Order: sequence, then C-alpha cells, then structure tokens
Amino acid sequence: MTQPGSESTTTSTRHGFGVDVGGSGIKGGIVDLVTGELVGDRYKIETPQPSTPEAVAAVVASIAQRFEWTGPVGVTLPAVVTGGIARSAANIDKSWIDTDARALFARALGHENVVVLNDADAAGVAEDRYGAGKGRSGVVVLLTFGTGIGSAILHDGVLLPNTELGHMEVGGKEAEHRAASSVKETKELSYKEWAKEVSRVLETFEALLWPDLFIAGGGISRKSEKWIPLLTNRTPVVAATLQNAAGIVGAALFADTAAASEQAR
Ligand code: BGC
Repeated sequence: MTQPGSESTTTSTRHGFGVDVGGSGIKGGIVDLVTGELVGDRYKIETPQPSTPEAVAAVVASIAQRFEWTGPVGVTLPAVVTGGIARSAANIDKSWIDTDARALFARALGHENVVVLNDADAAGVAEDRYGAGKGRSGVVVLLTFGTGIGSAILHDGVLLPNTELGHMEVGGKEAEHRAASSVKETKELSYKEWAKEVSRVLETFEALLWPDLFIAGGGISRKSEKWIPLLTNRTPVVAATLQNAAGIVGAALFADTAAASEQAR
C-alpha cells in the first residue's frame, strides 16, 4: 500500500505523520498538510519511565506501526536538537543528551525518512502555518507555557531553531522559573499575579527581538481569556489555536518539507 506521505507533494490532499514526545505522554497521528488538521484520532501512549532513548524510540515506532505509516516521520523532543542530535533534556531522561536521536528513530522505524526537532519549534511551525500566526508576516514568537517555557522564532514562516528563550535571565531568574504555568501552580499565583510575571518576561523578549506577534501556547492558553487581557507588554499576544495537536502537526510538516527537498536534490 502506498502511504499518502510518500505520494507526490503536488496532489491536493497531502498527508504527513508526526509524533510529539513529552514528559508524560507520546502522541502521534496522521496530519492533513493542506489544512493542518489531524486525519482521524491521534494516538497517545504514556511516556515510559525511565524515558530512555531506546524505550521512547520503541514507543514512537509502535505508534507509526499502529497507523501503518511508512512515509516521512517528524518527531519532537523537549530538547535542543542540532543535526538530529539531542543536546539537552527537559522532563525526559538525561541519557538523551548527546544521543543521535535521528539515527535512533531511523533504526526503530526501519527507514531514514525521519526528522527530529524541538517541541516548541514544532508547535511554532504549526501555529505559524495553520493556526494563530496564519497569514501574518514579520517576526512571530511562539511561547509554550507548561512545566517550562518553550520558544520558537519565525520570520516570514522561516524558523530559527533552538532559541530556548525560556532559559533567558529575566530580573535575576530564568524566564521559565518566573512565568512557566507550573510556577503559577506551585506558588498558587492568581491569574493577575502570574500575568504580571509573564508581562515582565515578554517585555524582556520584545526589547531584544521586536516581534510583530507573540503566540501563547501550552495548556494554559485554553484559558487565555483569563490572563491575556491582563498582560501589559507592548507586542500583541494571541492564544495558540491548534492546542495539543500543534507538536504533531508541526513535526509532520517539517518531515514532509525535508523529504520534499531531499527528493528535489
Ligand atoms: C526546554 C525546551 C523545551 C521547553 C518545552 C524547556 O525547559 O529547555 O527545550 O522546548 O522546555 O518543553
């Protein structure tokens, strides 16, 4: 059977496949690359503990198998990823650091058509193309507010990977230690108190980057009406719209683009 992902990229329906690896769950699904929507349900498996590279790769391969997917695969990691190699590890086993993640997933999947990218970068690519950033030009910065703060910077749709803005120092503290949504929970901050911290972080980022738009992602973006109106920074902030599919969608798009450019060579 020919997989949609391996068909010509000029057909009007183009499908891709993405897997989003997180600290608690590994989610995958087929993506309609024209609309940016999932085709059918996504499939989620709890992240194995310990979340070692081998254990995670086996889960990624089992998710692809469940969908009988043999085309290009995009995989996200909560890590800096350069040239397919994980350089850091947030909420996954530290043994990921310096692991050749691309080679590992290629072995587990049984083919070389694999790209690996940072989770927030994938969400940024997806929101920029299909979601809250659709049709926007200029510099778009997506921030995911969760256990930490992930970031993606795009200029006219082109990603600058691995920006890690969450680790920037803001007022003597790492930005994510000040304004991740986990901080709101552990310190029991009200939305008003937390929005003050987020504003401070955004003001620091915008002083350096002068973005045209911030997109706020992560679970807490579902309650955006409670806190986005309270922000006092200059740049407009909108809530992400693809919710928890953004990582899968962005990974699938990234893999499809890489496969198409490989084919064109
Ligand atoms: C990590 C990033 C990741 C983000 C969201 C941060 O702590 O450094 O690589 O994108 O969390 O998972």
